[in-house]
Amino acid sequence: MKFFIDTANLDQIKEAQDLGVLDGVTTNPSLMAKEGIKGEANILKHYVDICNIVTGDVSAEVISTDLKGMIAEGEHLASLHKQIVVKIPMIKDGVKALKYFSSKGIKTNCTLVFSAGQALLAAKAGATYVSPFIGRLDDISYDGVELINQIVHIYRVYDYKTQVLAASIRHSMHIIRCAEAGADVATCPLSAILDLLKHPLTDIGLAKFLADAKK
Ligand code: G3P
Repeated sequence: MKFFIDTANLDQIKEAQDLGVLDGVTTNPSLMAKEGIKGEANILKHYVDICNIVTGDVSAEVISTDLKGMIAEGEHLASLHKQIVVKIPMIKDGVKALKYFSSKGIKTNCTLVFSAGQALLAAKAGATYVSPFIGRLDDISYDGVELINQIVHIYRVYDYKTQVLAASIRHSMHIIRCAEAGADVATCPLSAILDLLKHPLTDIGLAKFLADAKK
């Protein structure tokens, strides 16, 4: 399972990269705004800064909602750095844009996916990644991980190459359940990745080993 970090915070990206388990980064306009990155030039530079920290794929989201706009924006984003993956919303023109970028060999991440039907469309359009938002489904009392199970099953039946990128992950149990479901990628906040480290028996056991080592 690949680990991506879901943030535009450079310090957090560096910390995850230093841990040695990071495979990529996802961002979205809300995450960029949270870091106070404003204006087209600053936003584009920030994507390049992220690419220079990590070795894997970096998702950069278009803000156009029409096909022509998404193509122009996506081509520009893709030209910034070879690690850029163009993030496209699951809307009608988005499906057409996924097909276009797929035919051009440009990687895509289909975002804002909340149903198996949407995931099926993304795969048929040739998306590199599909991003089901599991935390936001949990928020409305639907089991988000169940959607990951459903999509993984469908993709396996038809041998779709689109990778299931579990997004909107809120805690470490989400990561574990997505791993059990066979998600190809989990994009997580840094805190959820670091929480995987924790177990009280590890702390107790280490304290005892260190104490015994002094005897
Ligand atoms: O990057 C998309 C997704 O991970 C957003 O998560 O926490 O805003 O639902 P969240």
